[in-house]
Amino acid sequence: MNKILTSAEQIDFTISGLPAMPLPNKVLMVKPTYFDVEYVINPHMKGQIGEVDKMQAANEWEHLVDGYNELGYTVEVLDGVNGLPDLVFCANQCLPFIDEKENRSAILSNMRAPQRQGEVAIIKTWLQGQGYETLSLDLEESGKFEGMGDAIWHFKRRLLWGGYGFRTSVRAYERVSELLNTPVIALELVDDKFYHLDTCFCILNENSVLIYEDAFAPVSIEMIHKLFDNVIQASKYEAEKLFAVNAACPDGKNVFIQQGSTDVNKKLRDAGFSVHEFSTYEFMRSGGSVFCMKLFYW
Ligand code: ARG
Repeated sequence: MNKILTSAEQIDFTISGLPAMPLPNKVLMVKPTYFDVEYVINPHMKGQIGEVDKMQAANEWEHLVDGYNELGYTVEVLDGVNGLPDLVFCANQCLPFIDEKENRSAILSNMRAPQRQGEVAIIKTWLQGQGYETLSLDLEESGKFEGMGDAIWHFKRRLLWGGYGFRTSVRAYERVSELLNTPVIALELVDDKFYHLDTCFCILNENSVLIYEDAFAPVSIEMIHKLFDNVIQASKYEAEKLFAVNAACPDGKNVFIQQGSTDVNKKLRDAGFSVHEFSTYEFMRSGGSVFCMKLFYW
């Protein structure tokens, strides 16, 4: 059951005998008090140092909290930390999961950028306070790993999709797969504007996914098409400039997405999804949007 799959021929879905993982029912968000662009670790951050409008960022963030509340989610709010401006992207510091015995655990990240490494201890303490067991990856053996920035659950199939190439090392998924007792479908990212899997791959429900195809190596595109019947494509403009694919679909029906992605939004509505648009312009200066501004957990 534990293995990394890197080509479409390896995908044989009799391997997925495990029960579906329940959809997370809680949301964590980190207050943007100390959010800013203070360094450049992805192409979107270039020219943005000192450009964040803090008031505007706080407004955008509040609207997102309200959006989750309106959908019926309790939003757990964690204070920001001075000196850790990217802590607001709280999808990146860990990968939470529930095992077959319903124990809640999380694999902690080994962040690539030194500027972000201090974030992991904050999230670790928070997870432990929530009763989670926290697991670490050995850096020597597994290399870097950036949590739900690159590792995305396919809950209904109890499969993990794992991006690699910029932030996470492909070998990290060997240990991750063992710890989760779940196969990992490894997807190679090839465009540094799409440095995390969550910038170009958004699972909508068991059979539907929203992607920006040019961000992937050809063999990875094949794997996506093999497993999803309904592959919705975003244009380069909407994926790169509006982070349209960094959307969140917590329940298989409602999609939270950066505002203005007209083409993607039409395709989502035509496919039966309810689209909720949010402004995340201030966070996009740092290379993130809706998906990475929260952590779904149980
Ligand atoms: N400035 C952050 C970084 O480059 C943004 C992270 C956004 N998160 C994401 N999963 N795309 O690490």
